[in-house]
Amino acid sequence: MTKRILLTGGLGYIGSHTYVALVAAGYDVVILDNLSNSKRSVCDRLAQITGRDTTFVQADILDEPALAQLFSDYDFDAVIHFAGLKAVGESVEKPLEYMQVNVTGLVNILQAMQAASVNALVFSSSATVYDVSNTSPLREDMQTGFTNPYGYTKLTCEQILEQAVAANPSLKTGVLRYFNPAGADVSGLIGEDPNDIPNNLMPYISRVAIGEYEFLRVWGDDYDTPDGTGVRDYIHVSDLANGHVLSLNALLDRDESHLVNLGRGRGYSVMQVLNSYSRACGRELPYQVMPRRAGDIAEMYADVERAKQVLGFTVSRDLDDMCDSSWNWITTGAKDA
Ligand code: NAD
Ligand code: UFG
Repeated sequence: MTKRILLTGGLGYIGSHTYVALVAAGYDVVILDNLSNSKRSVCDRLAQITGRDTTFVQADILDEPALAQLFSDYDFDAVIHFAGLKAVGESVEKPLEYMQVNVTGLVNILQAMQAASVNALVFSSSATVYDVSNTSPLREDMQTGFTNPYGYTKLTCEQILEQAVAANPSLKTGVLRYFNPAGADVSGLIGEDPNDIPNNLMPYISRVAIGEYEFLRVWGDDYDTPDGTGVRDYIHVSDLANGHVLSLNALLDRDESHLVNLGRGRGYSVMQVLNSYSRACGRELPYQVMPRRAGDIAEMYADVERAKQVLGFTVSRDLDDMCDSSWNWITTGAKDA
């Protein structure tokens, strides 16, 4: 029988791409989102991509009665929980808001699941939970830590999940530590387009490419990396989305909890990303080297062995695919979204 999945935050960047992957894999999906960082028009785009109507409920994960109603309206087999706040800088200014939405929000979801006897949860964690003292490749059993309230909330959520599983052996969780998602669906109909000035590299470069910003500010070129600029593990968002399908399959078919990195297992420097994007958009994109950004480290990339062993996770898209699809999205779908 078709399995029904609740996708919280399903209209957001990673959630919308995961929706596409889940429908392609034969799942029936209900999206919950409060539209705080996404647009209703994504529903129509998802319908266009999948050829199916999108089931969307506008609600907040902090609204417990609304969650109870949702779980009584639908029989869910599992939940994938994306909804949350994710801007590191903003979390320093509004730590309580981050704790309320990210931590209380997760507790609300777990309580609603428990009341409805739903026992499978995939959770969006982050490579930010690794302690900065670790050396890449980062392995799941390495030391964890945090340097800002956002990181604190993700680590706390992981710990809450561990304790919830210990107390309820029927509960199975897939904790996915994402590295740096980038790129967009091949259709160009969905992608990342933040309302504010982007902090992250790829969305910022895409705005330079369309001429909205004059140049990229490269935060430091004196790191101990091949070209001196910061190295990160960029992963195509559609590969990341497939990781969620594999995680869900492991929870539902094999009844197994897991905690894995989702990355490509190799790093690219800021200059490599800029060069690949210049190729994608057909002109040399301007940049200026600035001092290092506070809190940044030289390099960070995943050890992907566990994801491969436990989930069979592999990626099929490279940096050029990320830049090509981002450029396609920003010059087509993003315009009238
Ligand atoms: P996003 O902001 O694009 O998507 C989050 C969605 O959740 C948005 O549609 C937003 O409207 C919704 N939302 C926020 N608060 C809500 C609430 N209280 N109730 C209901 N809906 C709410 O972010 P994303 O990049 O798709 O990230 C998804 C998840 O992955 C987040 O939990 C984030 O912390 C995590 N993550 C993201 C990255 C990244 O680089 N994008 C890296 C690691 C982890
Ligand atoms: N960078 C620039 N200029 C910019 C933006 C970024 O040079 O305008 C550089 C950064 O210094 C870094 C690299 O590009 O070397 C990547 O920076 P991002 O801000 O895109 O990503 P981070 O790795 O710093 O952080 C992201 C998320 C965090 C998450 C982390 C690990 O923003 O929330 O990945 O998953 F914790």
